[in-house]
Amino acid sequence: MTEWWKRAIIYHIYPRSFMDASGDGIGDLQGIRQRLDYLQWLGIDAIWISPVYPSPMADFGYDVTDHCDIDPMFGSVADMDDLIAEAHRHSIKVILDFVPNHTSNEHPWFLESKSSRDNPKRDWYYWKDPKPDGSPPNNWLSRFDGKSAWKWDESTGQYYLHTFLEEQPDLNWRNPEVKEAMLDILRFWFRRGVDGFRVDVSYRVMKDAGFADNPINPDWKPGMDPSFRVTEQNTKNTADIHLFNRWIRETADEFEDKVTIGEMNLSLPQLARHYGSPNWPEFHLPFNFRLIFSAWEARNVGALITEFEATVPEHGWPNWVLSNHDQPRFGTRAGREQARNGYLFLLTVRGTPTIYYGDELGMQSVPVPQDKVQDPWELLSPGLGLGRDPVRTPMRWDAGPNAGFCPAGTEPWLPVGDDAVALNAEISKQDPASMLSMVKTLIRLRRTHEVLVSGSCTVLSSTGDVLQYRRGEPDSDSTMLVLLNFSPEEKSADLPADFQGSAEILLSTEMDGPHALRNSSVVLRPNEGLLLRRKR
Ligand code: NOJ
Repeated sequence: MTEWWKRAIIYHIYPRSFMDASGDGIGDLQGIRQRLDYLQWLGIDAIWISPVYPSPMADFGYDVTDHCDIDPMFGSVADMDDLIAEAHRHSIKVILDFVPNHTSNEHPWFLESKSSRDNPKRDWYYWKDPKPDGSPPNNWLSRFDGKSAWKWDESTGQYYLHTFLEEQPDLNWRNPEVKEAMLDILRFWFRRGVDGFRVDVSYRVMKDAGFADNPINPDWKPGMDPSFRVTEQNTKNTADIHLFNRWIRETADEFEDKVTIGEMNLSLPQLARHYGSPNWPEFHLPFNFRLIFSAWEARNVGALITEFEATVPEHGWPNWVLSNHDQPRFGTRAGREQARNGYLFLLTVRGTPTIYYGDELGMQSVPVPQDKVQDPWELLSPGLGLGRDPVRTPMRWDAGPNAGFCPAGTEPWLPVGDDAVALNAEISKQDPASMLSMVKTLIRLRRTHEVLVSGSCTVLSSTGDVLQYRRGEPDSDSTMLVLLNFSPEEKSADLPADFQGSAEILLSTEMDGPHALRNSSVVLRPNEGLLLRRKR
């Protein structure tokens, strides 16, 4: 197995929040560069950086005005070149974010498109006439406020489509000029040495060509995300999406060794189709968000492993994600006590793991007071718990002012959180029992034990509160077991025959010494996870 992205540990950096070198309270590229030593120390193989392109920041960079430049807030193209070179010197690959579904409404393309009905770029975005009564052309809803996804433009007398903010008009990828212009952006960065792209909401890019209404969602109730009033049958995961996937993949394949990661929130069988087929390969890694959107319970996690193992096609490769910049942190969703088990899982299950910055410390979502709210989603749909600021708070580097994220006297763009003095990278590095030490140890074990990368993965049991899965083949020298106790009580678990009387603990999430192993069973402490191998 030679593809680097199958072995890689990916680390997701939200650039506003990682490290501020310029001293304006917002993270930047030089800041990331300064922290490469930390990432190398941890054992990271690739960083994925959320968008750093010029942007009015209506959606904090997911509203791009120039895909081939860097916003001065983050640095310059020269800083990016420098970061890529330095990261490569640290044996770290660089994955950028590609935002194909929409641009900023201040993008020159949109300004042209909006200028008149006969502008050559009019068709680069979706413009439609109103219905006879003047209302929007169909019932599609914007994700961020649940109101119509169509914005009326007085000067040209038509509506334009925006799946997200009205400041984020959707691009029309059915126009071949759009397609070529956008694919050229990938080429621009690949030539500069970028190793891959995470493709933002890739599964939404191709909408129903007939612009049919979405069906009403009978399960929607007040208090739920307002955009879920309709089911998005015609706005996401349409049949044509595989054309788009293929264009991305073909462009990446013009270069050597590049990875493409598609962002999608789909069931595992749906997601499996985004790998394409051997003759028509699509994404290398269609992001698997099942653990973000379902319960952290032994039975559920076991079922997901089994389902994913059964659905990933032969030419595909699994991947798992626990947290990202859009959803509450794993340790907050699953509970602080389960944070370590989550990462034992992520780093021992088969598939490429993506670590969200700060999760390795055990960072929780940080409450953000109302007067400090930044996220447009929270501002447009307040009180529903959809705001993303709490998961985007600054990385904690040390116990100094602003947790070492930005200089003393500068206000970080979001609060660092009250517990940053006690929970930060510097303190965690010195504590052999910290979660950071556990994550680092697991990454090292993954590197030294091939079975944790390429060995088969089989669920042995997931009843009650204990999940037990095996890596590698039974009776083999290399096989390993992972046991996770999801409960706050001590639990005993039976060992499979080939481990009875010959089990040895490689790692406990408690990061402490020897542990009671019985002949045929093992006792797990409350919330404990174990990695076992057979005694040599
Ligand atoms: C998904 C991104 O992860 C999210 O942060 C962003 O707001 C939307 N796409 C719109 O680009």
